[in-house]
Amino acid sequence: MRIAICPGSFDPVTKGHLNIIERSAKLFDVVIALVLVNPNKRPVFTAEERVDFLRRACAGIPNVKVDSYFGLLADYARTVGACTIIKGLRAVTDFEYEFQQALTNKKLNSELETMFVITDSNYMYLSSSMVRQVAQFGGDVTDFLPECICQDIVARLPRLENKKQEETL
Ligand code: PNS
Repeated sequence: MRIAICPGSFDPVTKGHLNIIERSAKLFDVVIALVLVNPNKRPVFTAEERVDFLRRACAGIPNVKVDSYFGLLADYARTVGACTIIKGLRAVTDFEYEFQQALTNKKLNSELETMFVITDSNYMYLSSSMVRQVAQFGGDVTDFLPECICQDIVARLPRLENKKQEETL
């Protein structure tokens, strides 16, 4: 059985992520969408919330499982017997960082390959941080988030208020 992992912060999962997961599920027997810790980011949603959003978004894809892990992706992959990491690539700007991660993971687990899937052109510009920002300023994010979790995500995001301006008015 060929197991692949789609890892990420998923803060929160977007339609861009879901597109990569759906396409990966056609290539592998099992795909694990894995919520990991990115030490360079401070997540807005808890790991539990991010897992819950992912589970609901992936509910219609039978061979996708959702999990979370505190530690190295290379170790998790070894534990579950995964052969491949799948990463979505949006633009050349993603490449250098992804290349560095792929080589690090290969060094840590030589059995593990990294596969890059080019993002659907509809989602080239999409990122979780951009979606959060639009939602927090009250913009419409329905085109960016999986339909079944969109309202819940928006409701849980703290709205940004212009306190300073209110004070001076
Ligand atoms: O969605 P992100 O934040 O770009 O995903 C990055 C992530 C979470 C996949 C990466 O930070 C990660 O693999 N974290 C787990 C720790 C690890 O294995 N680090 C070594 C490889 S860089």
